[in-house]
Amino acid sequence: MVTVRAPATTANLGSGYDTFGAALERPADEVTVQRATETTLTVTGAGAEYVPEAPTENTAGVVAATLDAPATIEIRKGIRPASGLGSSAASAAAAAVALNELYDRGYSRAELVSVAAEGEAAASGEVHADNVAPALLGGFTVTRPDGTTVVDAELSLVVCLPAQPISTREARQVVPSSLSMDDHVETVRNAATLTVGMCRSDPALVGRGLDDPVVTPARAALVDAYDAVREAATRAGATGVTISGSGPGVLAVTRPTDQRAVASAMVDGFERAGIDARAIQTGVGDGATIR
Ligand code: HSE
Repeated sequence: MVTVRAPATTANLGSGYDTFGAALERPADEVTVQRATETTLTVTGAGAEYVPEAPTENTAGVVAATLDAPATIEIRKGIRPASGLGSSAASAAAAAVALNELYDRGYSRAELVSVAAEGEAAASGEVHADNVAPALLGGFTVTRPDGTTVVDAELSLVVCLPAQPISTREARQVVPSSLSMDDHVETVRNAATLTVGMCRSDPALVGRGLDDPVVTPARAALVDAYDAVREAATRAGATGVTISGSGPGVLAVTRPTDQRAVASAMVDGFERAGIDARAIQTGVGDGATIR
């Protein structure tokens, strides 16, 4: 029997659509696997009722098939599905590490990124590894088709989760299919600023680099009260605000001393619009760990 904890992750960070990701210190999923002749799944915890238990539809079940590693899989969700925190990716990453260990497959963490990404495709309909890479490797990650680069940044973050599920499939449909040269230049400038900021663990640079003229404005229309929450967080000291992954979670970068005030300003911002929300004060954290 093997148990693995895999962290929530925040993908895109504004300017790095389908490329940037970061592991969060909390929340996390836990997955326990035991050898079996065929794969079966049980899911408990946050939002478990929304997670399919059929092995072909569950990210962890798809990982078991990809690794040819049939198992009894228990998933304990600490990460609410459809919240923008890489919930399905965390289960896929935890299952990949656990089954690799259980069946002694010998894959490296980097090699497991593409395995877990196959599982992710079951949830979102497309293979993109910007959540599974940080869930496996930790830190801030830059994911390319030929591999992932990791930066061990130290950064205070707040993610604020409104009580409004958004499916990644739905959120990908509103992403524009082209962009102007001006928007391209601005995106490159912001993505470079953010990357330098992560290398220096500099909240001011990372916050500025979250700005994104293309994907986030299109998706903001899906997140009720996004503009008001962004403004409230900025007034409370956030150095930058964007949508976490495909939403509806909202991510803020802060200095450590402003973290608490930013968290409460974001919850207030949602509540003023009549939307229940909860804020998690967190930071850039480690990847999946075997318990
Ligand atoms: N990069 C992905 C997206 C992350 O924004 O659609 C969510 O799975």
